[in-house]
Amino acid sequence: MTTAHAIADTRHFVRAARQQGRRIGFVPTMGALHQGHLSLMERARRENDAVAISVFVNPTQFGPAEDFDAYPRDLDRDAALAEGVGVDLLFAPRAAAMYPDGATTYVDQAGPIVETLEGAHRPGHFRGVLTVCGKLFHIVEPDRAYFGQKDYQQVAAVAQMVRDLALPIAIVPCPIVREPDGLAMSSRNQHLDADARQQATCIHRGLQAAQACLDAGVSSAAALADVVRQTLLDAGHCTIDYVAIVHPQTLAPVDTVAEPAVALVAAHFGGTRLIDNHLLTPKG
Ligand code: PAJ
Repeated sequence: MTTAHAIADTRHFVRAARQQGRRIGFVPTMGALHQGHLSLMERARRENDAVAISVFVNPTQFGPAEDFDAYPRDLDRDAALAEGVGVDLLFAPRAAAMYPDGATTYVDQAGPIVETLEGAHRPGHFRGVLTVCGKLFHIVEPDRAYFGQKDYQQVAAVAQMVRDLALPIAIVPCPIVREPDGLAMSSRNQHLDADARQQATCIHRGLQAAQACLDAGVSSAAALADVVRQTLLDAGHCTIDYVAIVHPQTLAPVDTVAEPAVALVAAHFGGTRLIDNHLLTPKG
């Protein structure tokens, strides 16, 4: 595996691969890799001839009061894990390369995909995500880019950007990888103390409980959202940012779950903000 810090070295690597006719799969990350990230890389490995990943804690997607400084960073460990699943290129740019002095160009998207839920609770977050993904796409020029459905809005926003800007990249959404007790894997889980870690399992339990109620014939979105909310509250102290049930493509709120709809949760556990979601699927 090659590790590159410079944009020019990364371009050189991927262009050489392309000249040999190799298809490139790309997995952008912020590092602190876990099995969720590795599952994307393993899929990219299966579906492409070369796999590139990026590790970059992107400052522009963090709000001023968020955890940019505390975000876990361990490039040596990340490099070993990436190499272990057959990654060919790890691009770990310096912030000054991604945001040179005087950079003033950003990717702004409008509409409910970026304005609701995460977008409403984290102003500027998707502008930062789309700007860095756009730039990474231009540097790596992948054929396919792999994103986890854990960040449901993120993959929808990136897919929208790729459509809007006619970028020649297939966006591949990948399933959420969970701990054995159901907690969605996240780099931020390592900030949870033992109590908060235990309590956080209520997110997945709540989503499962909503699916069980839907299976039992409850189709009101408000009632199903209440089931999720109550499961979170029963688990003890947590602060809920939102529980929402929305259309899978438009992300507009739905009243009843007659067709598949996505239930999304964001909540704070002992100072750590976690998100998760589940595609509520009516029987039949
Ligand atoms: P990061 O949180 O490091 O996640 C990188 C990719 O891994 C994202 O596509 C995310 O959805 C996926 N991922 C994280 N946890 C997962 C899990 N439990 N199961 C499946 N996939 C999972 O998301 C970002 O970084 C950044 O916003 C980024 C796209 C890199 C832009 O800076």
